[in-house]
Amino acid sequence: MGDLTCAPAYVDLGDGRLRGVLAYNGKFPGPTWVVWKGDIVESTLYNRLSEPTITHWHGLHVDYANDGGPRLAIGPGGFYNYSFPIIQRASLNFYHPHPHMLTGKQVCLGLAGAFIIRDQEEDALHLPASPYEVPLIIRDASFDSQGNLLYNPTSSGFAGKFPLVNGRLKLKMNVDSGVYRFRVLNGSNARVFKLALSNGAPFTVIGNDGGLLRSPAVVSQIELGMGERLDLLVNFSGLVGGQSVMLRCLAARWDLLQFVGTGTAGYAYSVPEVLSTIVPLVGPTQPTRTFSFDGMSRINGLRYDINRIDFQVPFGVVERWRFKTGGNAPHPVHVHGASFQVVSRTGGRGKLFPWESGWKDTVLLNDKEVVDVLIRFDAYGGRYLIHCHQLEHEDMGMMSNFTVINAPSPGSLSISPFTSSR
Ligand code: C2O
Ligand code: CU
Ligand code: CU
Repeated sequence: MGDLTCAPAYVDLGDGRLRGVLAYNGKFPGPTWVVWKGDIVESTLYNRLSEPTITHWHGLHVDYANDGGPRLAIGPGGFYNYSFPIIQRASLNFYHPHPHMLTGKQVCLGLAGAFIIRDQEEDALHLPASPYEVPLIIRDASFDSQGNLLYNPTSSGFAGKFPLVNGRLKLKMNVDSGVYRFRVLNGSNARVFKLALSNGAPFTVIGNDGGLLRSPAVVSQIELGMGERLDLLVNFSGLVGGQSVMLRCLAARWDLLQFVGTGTAGYAYSVPEVLSTIVPLVGPTQPTRTFSFDGMSRINGLRYDINRIDFQVPFGVVERWRFKTGGNAPHPVHVHGASFQVVSRTGGRGKLFPWESGWKDTVLLNDKEVVDVLIRFDAYGGRYLIHCHQLEHEDMGMMSNFTVINAPSPGSLSISPFTSSR
């Protein structure tokens, strides 16, 4: 797609008023990347902010030099060259800044965007395509007295007063009578959404963070943590012209987006019973490592230190990671460098949800919960991060560096089960 420039910009959020934000290439949210598996992405990031930044590709399997972690931040006026191959399956990912202690501010002020990967496995399903495939970046926001985006976090995180969908207030979308594919991303700093449709119609979940699920799941409500993604089909074929349906957040009691029927025929689609093959990871029944997300700033009692490496993980080995918390949740736990499979949740909500199957890179940990995942780093060795995606927790130190060790030399890398479609 090209290069990215981070800079202040003025944008219209849909109410005719120009508001100050921070933007990628002047756009809020940033431009949507669409790439194919096997592509090489070459991009230069230019920092036109007055503070350090670096862009992280949340969900992408890239090496340390391309992962955009806090140690790679560039100062004002600086630039960073990225070059990486797309080695993973079709999925919706999330690019955003990741500078030390400034991530929450920069994301909240507007630096975030969608990164879509396509592949042949997905293509063969003939899912609804544009204009019937629509990315929805959902977040909250507040404004200062001039109407500019405002970052005013409290001790429990940033809580914006208004919802924004694709950078728009009160977004309205005309929908034809047919099936739509929504690629949903929770881009909030600290807000979990509970999504539902106002007419009680169901969502068909076909994918999440790491791409397509094995089979579709029909649900009427979905809890979506920060940094998590969804691939949803919604059937508007019963919607009469002029009639509307709201996408709602039941937790905040917000109307997020209004769909208005056009009455025109749209895309007819019946979803197959099997969408893709997910090879289950086979691993230990007891945790290999346990991570306790405590207070608002610590993992296992430690606050993030940019220069400290907290543990080492062997390349190519399936480990069982246990996430628990002493409180102050929700803590959406996110890992860089690999996707994982969620295998259990005990305490709290006490079960796994259909949208948590398949491959994930972020999983929601609520108070009193213990969540186990199986994970294997089979793309690259090197330094990666695990952190809470409540961005104020992350900035206060709920983050840890680790290193993937014993990776084969790049030329001898085998294709991982995650990256192949078998
Ligand atoms: Cu979306 Cu390390 O972050
Ligand atoms: Cu990430
Ligand atoms: Cu947290």
